[in-house]
Amino acid sequence: MKIAITGKGGVGKTTFSSMLSRMFAEDGYRVVAVDADPDANLGLALGFPKDIYESIVPISEMKKLVSDRTAADAGSFGKMFKINPKVDDIPEKYCKEHNGVRLLTLGTVDSGGSGCVCPEHVLLKRLCSHLILQNKDVVVMDMEAGIEHLGRGTAQGVDAFIVVVEPGERSLQTYRKVKKLGNDIGVKKVFVVGNKIRNKDDEQFIMNNLEDGESLGFIYYNQDVIDSDRSNKSPYDTSELAKQQVEAIKNKLMLLETSK
Ligand SMILES: Nc1ncnc2c1ncn2[C@@H]1O[C@H](COP(=O)(O)OP(=O)(O)OP(=O)(O)O)[C@@H](O)[C@H]1O
Ligand SMILES: [Mg+2]
Repeated sequence: MKIAITGKGGVGKTTFSSMLSRMFAEDGYRVVAVDADPDANLGLALGFPKDIYESIVPISEMKKLVSDRTAADAGSFGKMFKINPKVDDIPEKYCKEHNGVRLLTLGTVDSGGSGCVCPEHVLLKRLCSHLILQNKDVVVMDMEAGIEHLGRGTAQGVDAFIVVVEPGERSLQTYRKVKKLGNDIGVKKVFVVGNKIRNKDDEQFIMNNLEDGESLGFIYYNQDVIDSDRSNKSPYDTSELAKQQVEAIKNKLMLLETSK
């Protein structure tokens, strides 16, 4: 299963991605958590020790790797390079592992518009589409906020988008845009997780804005989650309640994914 976690800025994509990844790992799945946000911080939320976390070099910044694989100098827009670089060994070689979760940090590319075809971009896109899985493999992609980047294709080929929303109109608007874009790039399944919920009214507000079968559940506003961020710990290790709520979400996801 390969899923991309999307949504408006600050709604809790990274928090949820980290908890879901840790939970799948604990269940015995082989998990690759992909940090696809140029402002990468998934490793922190996964609870990686600082020294490992700080040693991570994003794939797009491995200039030699990029140029070796694409036979181009990094950033050499307009020159000749391979559009089908070898990537199958990259996850093994460049993932950092902690708590059973393998983290792959993509980094950023100077996109120069949605039609960008720089070598870094070609490598990232091919790498993501190559993360094809064996049984019991799960890929969780923590995406950049918003929708602009979705057209660039790193999330193409995922089985589903999970859009994280808050009980407010602005993040729901992003959800509607993601849904439309998903359709355009062939991702038909779009699920929703409501985060930072305070009460049943919040749940209802979100439900009123969704179609049947889209909601995976809710994570309540939780002081332990905030504290975990402040003390650089994984929310998975600090909040039992949020963990239970993520578990219910994961179970529903599995149910919907296996009953298709
Ligand atoms: N259920 C929750 N209760 C309380 N605070 C939360 C909850 N979920 C997330 N937060 C807090 O909200 C902030 C943003 O969370 P997070 O970084 O996961 O969002 P994001 O969508 O990944 O943001 P960005 O768009 O910047 O990548 C963090 O301070 C986090 O601790
Ligand atoms: Mg984030």
